[in-house]
Amino acid sequence: MSAERDLVRRADDRSAVFGVVGLGYVGLPLAVEVADAGYTVLGFDLKQAVVDGVNAGTSHIQDVPTARLAPLVEAGKISATSDMSRLSEVDVISICVPTPLSKTKDPDVSFVLSAGQAVAKTVRAGQVVVLESTTYPGTTRELLQPLIESKGLKVGEDVFLAFSPERVDPGNPVWQTKNTPKVIGGVTPACGRVMVALYGPVFDTLVPVSSPEAAELVKLLENTFRSVNIGLVNEMAQVCDRLGVNVWEVIDAAATKPFGFMKFTPGPGLGGHCIPIDPHYLAWKMRALNYKTRFIEVAGEVNSEMPTFWVRKLAEGLNEDSKPVRGSQVLVVGAAYKKDIDDLRESPALDIIRLLLQQGAKVSYHDPYVAQLHEDGVDLSSTDLTAAAVRAADCVLVATDHSSLDFAMIRREAGRVVDTRNALGRLPPA
Ligand SMILES: NC(=O)c1ccc[n+]([C@@H]2O[C@H](COP(=O)([O-])OP(=O)(O)OC[C@H]3O[C@@H](n4cnc5c(N)ncnc54)[C@H](O)[C@@H]3O)[C@@H](O)[C@H]2O)c1
Repeated sequence: MSAERDLVRRADDRSAVFGVVGLGYVGLPLAVEVADAGYTVLGFDLKQAVVDGVNAGTSHIQDVPTARLAPLVEAGKISATSDMSRLSEVDVISICVPTPLSKTKDPDVSFVLSAGQAVAKTVRAGQVVVLESTTYPGTTRELLQPLIESKGLKVGEDVFLAFSPERVDPGNPVWQTKNTPKVIGGVTPACGRVMVALYGPVFDTLVPVSSPEAAELVKLLENTFRSVNIGLVNEMAQVCDRLGVNVWEVIDAAATKPFGFMKFTPGPGLGGHCIPIDPHYLAWKMRALNYKTRFIEVAGEVNSEMPTFWVRKLAEGLNEDSKPVRGSQVLVVGAAYKKDIDDLRESPALDIIRLLLQQGAKVSYHDPYVAQLHEDGVDLSSTDLTAAAVRAADCVLVATDHSSLDFAMIRREAGRVVDTRNALGRLPPA
């Protein structure tokens, strides 16, 4: 039987074993969906604490409740290991490792490379490798394919290789791993067919595209689209500020247009592992081809100015109260990069806190999801969000609009508020 036919059969009867490399925000939700579809999953992670947690049935990822993970672990459908040589035991290898930026804002694909090298050590005929990490166009074919073929196996005949971007939106109660359509681009048509067969039972909708480069660009287009549109409304926030117009009123009214407008909202700046980072992967690739991605550059500039803009608004507010920033008590509400999650990666709240500390403010913060901040020059513990704490602050700065926070109390008790999310503006009238 050909390797392709065998894999399709093993997708049909769910006897294919999945290996998920990297059990983080992307990998663990994927592992759970794959196991729920009936496959057996062996997760791989370099962090022993993550492996031990998963083997104990305890989830470290907010979107995967322990109540969902534990029965799958107990039933033997999910287990985890840090022993990468066990990659030889699995049929499908989904790579979900980080793709950050280096200090110089160039792609850091070292995690993908090291996962690929681990795969190359044990690769055997009949295995399928699918890269899920966001990356620049060409990574799957240029970086992974040579590793996977290093033992003389041929992609598309003996082994299969595809790119399938993870689109998970942590904390989104509606769109999760399973019901978000899954794009798949195989290196060859057979690679695409095999991945469609294997992922068919896992996802509600599959979107096959003609190549891994197309699939890699789908993800970069989606996140660049968000970055550019957020950049546009963040610029509009600065325009409105200078014109003395309420930007949220303008956006809400514009959003009543039933066609041709999509609502984005201003904020403290970009955060998370995707939107501030992914467009730079494309910009980097295009620089190598002598093309400047202008929208990406401009949006990046505007978005990264936002913490400074809000700190300036705060300073102007305090000035009206005849207070300098130095020595003023500032209570920052929310530290995570967006509402209802605990993820601090690239959070603009951290930039705001750093700027305030540099200017001599006495900063405290409250975040129900983040008990401690130990980040590059910031060492704080979350304080309770009490009426007394709000009253004691010279200014409250809302950085994250977590649903559980009592913004009505903040409106009632605070002397001065800088609200980067319009959380108070969305409250019913007092
Ligand atoms: N977090 C998101 O919202 C999101 C959404 C869509 C896509 N993505 C993309 O998915 C990828 C993974 O992101 P994440 O947020 O899950 O990262 P993460 O940091 O939460 O998890 C990655 C895990 O991989 C492990 N790891 C790193 N190198 C490894 C290796 N060589 N072998 C085995 N394990 C290894 C780490 O220990 C970590 O547990 C990135 O490319 C990211 O851009 C993330």
